[in-house]
Amino acid sequence: MEDIHVRSPKNNEWEEYFTVRYKTLREPWGQPKGSEKDSEEDSAVHAAAFYNNKIIGVARLQKAEGTKGQIRYMGVLSSFEGKGVGSKLLKYLETKAKELGIETIILNARENALPFYRKNGYETFEKSYLLWGEIQHYLMQKSL
Ligand SMILES: CC(C)(COP(=O)(O)OP(=O)(O)OC[C@H]1O[C@@H](n2cnc3c(N)ncnc32)[C@H](O)[C@@H]1OP(=O)(O)O)[C@@H](O)C(=O)NCCC(=O)NCCS
Repeated sequence: MEDIHVRSPKNNEWEEYFTVRYKTLREPWGQPKGSEKDSEEDSAVHAAAFYNNKIIGVARLQKAEGTKGQIRYMGVLSSFEGKGVGSKLLKYLETKAKELGIETIILNARENALPFYRKNGYETFEKSYLLWGEIQHYLMQKSL
């Protein structure tokens, strides 16, 4: 889909941005509203994918140790999955990361998302944590 573009949300778009994060990563597991945010929102780089002025996918980049950056909160609305939206979000954040001097991206991938990250050049290192007692995560990494 070529008419999808990615940029940081602004002004009154923030509410929709966090709603998409909640719907894709929290609501399906019965997690409460508010659980989709953490204390690093202000210092992070945010990416939203827009289609017809609506946000259909989200992701976030934050600084990690040394020259590392971490991508978190990647979620695409289920009706838009498999159309390249997630890959566009990753590319946008990888470009921003390079601009910030980040050399390596790390992330904790949910098991269901491993093939998606592999397609985008990320390698699996080890099992990391089990979220809510059921979602296994894997530490992945990509050199930029
Ligand atoms: C994981 C997720 C972000 C992927 O986004 P997406 O927009 O559907 O992915 P894309 O369309 O950009 O996929 C890129 C490639 O990965 C592949 N891929 C994506 N999900 C896949 C899956 N579950 N199994 C196998 N391949 C998959 C696609 O086929 C595509 O390959 P192609 O380029 O050869 O066609 C999205 O499915 C999602 O939000 N899932 C629910 C929430 C979640 O699990 N988020 C990740 C948390 S770590």
